[in-house]
Amino acid sequence: MYLLKKMILEQGIVVNNDVLKVDSFLNHCIDPVLMQEIGKEFFQRFKNEKITKVLTVETSGIAPALFTGLEFKVPVVFAKKSGALNLDKDVFETSIHSFTKQKDYMIKVSKKYLTSDDVVLIIDDFLANGQAVIGMSELISMAGAKLAGVGIVIEKGFQDGGALLHEMGMRVESLAIIDKMSQGKIFIRNEEENKK
Ligand code: G4P
Repeated sequence: MYLLKKMILEQGIVVNNDVLKVDSFLNHCIDPVLMQEIGKEFFQRFKNEKITKVLTVETSGIAPALFTGLEFKVPVVFAKKSGALNLDKDVFETSIHSFTKQKDYMIKVSKKYLTSDDVVLIIDDFLANGQAVIGMSELISMAGAKLAGVGIVIEKGFQDGGALLHEMGMRVESLAIIDKMSQGKIFIRNEEENKK
């Protein structure tokens, strides 16, 4: 994903050694050309999995998830965070702990939109400690559906999430893995591949 890595390096702002700000193309202003490429890339990586649904969690996972769903031609479901209105009572729900934000929150999906017939691809914008993905995988288990894999736009390789999900037996595909951030610089894994 040359374009993604280029945008991270050119536009990413290192807030501190743990947090990368990518508001200009992913978390606030969204680049649709990049999102389309991301959707195509996830399709290439998971096309043999007979995916029937893409699952993400609001808010920033929705854009890459939607473009992925477009490639697979399957519905995209986003788990709602607690407090969201207009959701019927018949829901699968679980609690997530965010280490980044130091708080717990609930995520919910209507039972109408996840069923035991589903083969689900989880998509999210960031992988830090893995808790959002684990929460979504719990919703998938509650529905009796199958988790086919996890697609991540930016993984922070220096945090625990990737290893944790691999240990749990999940197939995780990250489009860019950040090994380190230091003194305002971003170190992306296999960055030399970018320069082909
Ligand atoms: P985890 O799910 O991997 O355990 O992550 P964690 O709870 O630690 O992260 C909580 C939120 O912070 C998530 O967004 C996640 O995407 C985001 N996040 C974590 N690290 C970074 C980072 O370095 N840069 C940016 N830009 N975001 C990061 P969220 O609260 O669900 O926000 P949103 O999807 O509503 O925008």
